[in-house]
Amino acid sequence: MTVHSAKDTAGPTALVAGGAGFLGSHLCEALVRKGWRVIALDNLQTGSASNLARLAREPRFSFIEHDVCDPLPSDVMADRVFNLACAASPPRYQADPIHTMMTSVNGTRHLLDVAARSGGVFVQASTSEVYGDPEQHPQREDYWGNVNTTGPRACYDEGKRAAEALCFDYLRLGRADVRVARIFNTYGPRMQPDDGRIVSNLICQALSGQPLTIYGTGEQTRSFCYVSDMVEGLWRLSDVADNPGGPVNLGNPGEFTINALAAMVTAMTRAGSTVVHQPLPVDDPRRRRPDIGRAEALLGWTPKVQLAKGLPPTIAWFDKLLAPANPAPAALPPKRPRAGRLPALAVAPAAKA
Ligand SMILES: NC(=O)c1ccc[n+]([C@@H]2O[C@H](COP(=O)([O-])OP(=O)(O)OC[C@H]3O[C@@H](n4cnc5c(N)ncnc54)[C@H](O)[C@@H]3O)[C@@H](O)[C@H]2O)c1
Repeated sequence: MTVHSAKDTAGPTALVAGGAGFLGSHLCEALVRKGWRVIALDNLQTGSASNLARLAREPRFSFIEHDVCDPLPSDVMADRVFNLACAASPPRYQADPIHTMMTSVNGTRHLLDVAARSGGVFVQASTSEVYGDPEQHPQREDYWGNVNTTGPRACYDEGKRAAEALCFDYLRLGRADVRVARIFNTYGPRMQPDDGRIVSNLICQALSGQPLTIYGTGEQTRSFCYVSDMVEGLWRLSDVADNPGGPVNLGNPGEFTINALAAMVTAMTRAGSTVVHQPLPVDDPRRRRPDIGRAEALLGWTPKVQLAKGLPPTIAWFDKLLAPANPAPAALPPKRPRAGRLPALAVAPAAKA
């Protein structure tokens, strides 16, 4: 376990597991901006030190390199625990499916125990994948889902469902103040080009002049939430005084076919790309759209950044990342720092979050 300690230990503390990932790093920055002391904990499986570069010299920030499948050090305490630790990219989580399942089950348990012994609020990053290929549209939190328990996505989908069960057991038993966010497709800067998600795939193909790959007819739908909206939703879920008592969908209810997304990406990148069709992946859901009535009512939260506004900064991020003349070595995937090294945190220039 590698530990980079914070110099300023005053103030409330948030533990962000998965803090070096796409969502986690944005959440860490938002929490520091709010005046929180933040401990990011990550095994750097899909996250990277470069995502945390802006926080490297922040006195209220510290980093622990640790795999949540193992129990956490007993002196880690936090007023709020955010569990975002889990690879969200299908090729990544399917590469080691047993580790993915154990991350969700054992990892969530270990983090719940931190919240329990600290008396803190716990926020679980669950997923719309708990609805599987949904028979209800849009998906409300009371829908139990339609998930294949034995397919290649089950390590993630069922792992997240088991983690939810564990969360609500801790809540029912009065062990911790647990809140569960069901996150729908979220995008923005710091996504990785090789993560196999539709937004990053299409943008990277368009920027590199390749044909855009569309699975199936492209008439399947998704809803896309910009990262700043998601971070605000997670914060509000942690901050609301009354425990919601059940899961809360967080996502943008705007619904787009993949064909429509591809057309927007093509226009915004001025790519003039052609399209190639490939078969749908196994268990790929046909429709996805959150009903966010609970989040609106309980958290006063509604997404503000629509797809047409969120795509340009995301395209700019990938453009910079992929540009050969501007390699930005600390940020270039897929060669991430291996476990045991954290160069960017040690040497990154101080920058404002
Ligand atoms: N981005 C989305 O669209 C989306 C949608 C639904 C749910 N989620 C959930 O939100 C969370 C964050 O997703 P993301 O998009 O930022 O993905 P990400 O892969 O960028 O971040 C996950 C982070 O968790 C770390 N991690 C993975 N396994 C770990 C382990 N065993 N121990 C410690 N750290 C570990 C990774 O290194 C990475 O930094 C995940 O739990 C994901 O399931 C994300």
